[in-house]
Amino acid sequence: MNRIVIRSFVRGLVNSRSFGSIAGGSGGGMKVTFAAAASPSTRYQPLADGGFQWRRLMSSSTAVAEEQGKVKLEQGNKDVENQEKEKEKDNALVSSYWGIYRPKITREDGSEWPWNCFMPWETYRADVSIDLGKHHEPKTFLDKVAYRVVKLLRIPTDIFFQRRYGCRAVMLETVAAVPGMVGGMLLHLKSLRRFQHSGGWIKALLEEAENERMHLMTMIELVQPKWYERMLVITVQGVFFNAFFVLYLMSPKLAHRVVGYLEEEAIHSYTEYLKDIDEGKIENVPAPAIAIDYWRLPKDARLKDVITVIRADEAHHRDVNHFASDIHFQGKELRESAAPLGYH
Ligand SMILES: [Fe+2]
Ligand SMILES: [Fe+2]
Repeated sequence: MNRIVIRSFVRGLVNSRSFGSIAGGSGGGMKVTFAAAASPSTRYQPLADGGFQWRRLMSSSTAVAEEQGKVKLEQGNKDVENQEKEKEKDNALVSSYWGIYRPKITREDGSEWPWNCFMPWETYRADVSIDLGKHHEPKTFLDKVAYRVVKLLRIPTDIFFQRRYGCRAVMLETVAAVPGMVGGMLLHLKSLRRFQHSGGWIKALLEEAENERMHLMTMIELVQPKWYERMLVITVQGVFFNAFFVLYLMSPKLAHRVVGYLEEEAIHSYTEYLKDIDEGKIENVPAPAIAIDYWRLPKDARLKDVITVIRADEAHHRDVNHFASDIHFQGKELRESAAPLGYH
């Protein structure tokens, strides 16, 4: 029995020595591999936690490599800290807890991109060669209703604004940005309800709404509405949003036709605006910076250039909405015809 105990003890000693020799040879390499695979924060932990034995058994070259790695890691940590500080500096007013920050974006000439509301890849050069005189002849009963409604809406607008085209444009754009959002929202909900694609029409209509909103953001740089005009905008939005929402639910083909005719009126209003600029009644001031970047205008662009590209946008909206109405008039749904995405 004593022999058995002594043999087990001696075998245990021999095994522990052979383990030590493995650790000192190939085992050292395994350790380094493990350390390399560990995350930076845990990489060197085993050395601290009783790792002395490992270190003593390692070859000198492995120890040097580890020291160099440690220096690199510390340098890496400093770089990460510096980057974090830079992010915090960029978002000084925003908590960095969620780690959301905007990378530095530059223009083609290397200057910093100043806008958060749109990105360089969302900008475009307006196609000003579009036919501005195109008109949809109202033939059906619904077409005539749409045409008359728009002509009726023009009467109070003409009376209120007369030839104050700056204020008129601000008012017009607060209304013009509503239909695309309502139509896009309702098509979005329909897509969810019916498990169907929209054929790109959700995106196309939301693009139109955003484009109209950019018209407003541009015009507001040039014209400051008075308090009663702001009150009028709030009232008109409350009425128009709800009316258009109900109209789109009941008859999208009539709703798109109404917007098509509204856009025709917008082209007319901007043509009159340009006439007043040409005649010197409205000063041809330098274009706002937002307009220069959004429409990729030359740096010396002026108000006339801005109104020209806005008018071209309105002509595109006219085409999109008459096209959408025509699809419905043919008894089809919008998703059956590919949406004119990116049509500006
Ligand atoms: Fe517009
Ligand atoms: Fe428009």
